[in-house]
Amino acid sequence: MRSVRDIPVFENIPILVRAALNEPLQNGVVVDSFRLSRAQATLRFLAERHARVVVASHIGDLGTESLKPVAEALGRALRGVSFCSSTIGEEARAAIRALSPGGILVLENLRRNHGETANDPVFAKELAALADVFVEDSFDTCHRAHASIVGVPTLLPSYAGLLLEEEIAALSGALAPKTPALAVIGGAKFGTKEAVLETLLSVYTHVFVGGALANDFLKAAGQEVGQSLVSGADPAHIKKLLANKKLILPIDSLVVPRAAMGSMDLRGRARIAGFREVRNDEVILDHGPGTEALLAGLAKKMHTILWNGPLGNYENGFTDATDGFARAVAASGARSIVGGGDTVASIENLGLLPRFSFVSTGGGAMLEFLAKGTLPGIQVLG
Ligand code: 3PG
Repeated sequence: MRSVRDIPVFENIPILVRAALNEPLQNGVVVDSFRLSRAQATLRFLAERHARVVVASHIGDLGTESLKPVAEALGRALRGVSFCSSTIGEEARAAIRALSPGGILVLENLRRNHGETANDPVFAKELAALADVFVEDSFDTCHRAHASIVGVPTLLPSYAGLLLEEEIAALSGALAPKTPALAVIGGAKFGTKEAVLETLLSVYTHVFVGGALANDFLKAAGQEVGQSLVSGADPAHIKKLLANKKLILPIDSLVVPRAAMGSMDLRGRARIAGFREVRNDEVILDHGPGTEALLAGLAKKMHTILWNGPLGNYENGFTDATDGFARAVAASGARSIVGGGDTVASIENLGLLPRFSFVSTGGGAMLEFLAKGTLPGIQVLG
C-alpha cells in the first residue's frame, strides 16, 4: 500500500481525498469535532505541498444532511477552505478548476447520490474524473463497498492518507497486544460482533462483554434478562463463546420495570439487581457498581486495554457504566485503544481524550478490521 508521502508530484495537482467528516449535526450545527480534527493532518500535508485538495465525504446515513457546516468548521481550523454544493458534475469541476494550489474544496455529501452506496461504476467514474490522484483517509467507511471507497481506487493512482495509516498501525498493534490484556466489547447486535469476539478471545487475556450484547450472553447462560434488548442470536453460537474461560460478563445490572419505560422518573424507579436477580418484567439499562468495580480492578493490572461500544443504554442517558469504565481506563496506565461513537463521546465528555493511547475514528470499521485484519477499502489500495 502506497502512502500519501509517496505521491511523486503535488504542485497544482488535483487530489481527491476521501475523508471522514461524518460528524453529528444538531439544527445544522456541528456538535462534535473529533473526526474533523483527525482529518486535518492529511489535508494540511497536501495543502502545504500546494496540491489542489478536493475533499469527498458523507454525513449522516440518508444523504439528507449537508457537509456545508462541516466545511465551515474545517475552514476555522485550516486556511483556504471552500465548499461546493455539488458532489460531481460541471459545478464541481468548475470549482476545482478555480482552486488555487494549496486550496481545499469540500464537495457536498457523497450520499446525496444514490450511486455512492450502490457502488455505481458510473458515479465512481464521475468522481474519479474530478482529480488525477486519490487518497483514502476515511478509515471509518473502509468496511463499506461504496463508490468512493472501492470504486474510485480502481480508476486512479491511489494512496493511503496519514490518518488511515495511523489507524492501521494502531489497530494491527492491538491484534498483538502486550499482555495481560483486556478487551471490552459493548453495544448491541451480536451478529456484528461475533467475529471480533472470536478473534479477541484468541489473543486477549480477558474479554468482557457488556452493554446490550451482554443480555444475549446472560440469556444464553440461563439467566433471566426480563424484557431487555436482545438481538435474537442463535444461542448455540453464544454458548460456544461462553465456554471460553476468558469471557467475562456483568455481575450486576441497573434495571427498571418495563412499565416504567418512558416515564419522567425512570431513574427513580431503577434498582440494582445482582447475579440472577433480574425479574421477568424488568429491563436492564446499565451494569451495576459491582461490575464497575470488577472492571476497574482488572484495568489496573493490564498492559493493554481495547474497548469498543457503550456498556449501558448510553444514548438514553444511562451513561454510568460507560463513563465509569472510561475513568478506570484513563487511570490505569495501560496502553488503551478505543473506538465507537458512544465510547468516544463518553471519553470526550469527560475530557479524557488525551489520556488514551489511541482513539479510533472507526466504529463498525474498527470491529471489522480487528476481526479480519483488513477492510475492503484498504485491500483495494494494495
Ligand atoms: C460511522 O459513523 O461509523 C462511519 O462514518 C460510517 O457511517 P455509516 O455507518 O453510515 O456507513
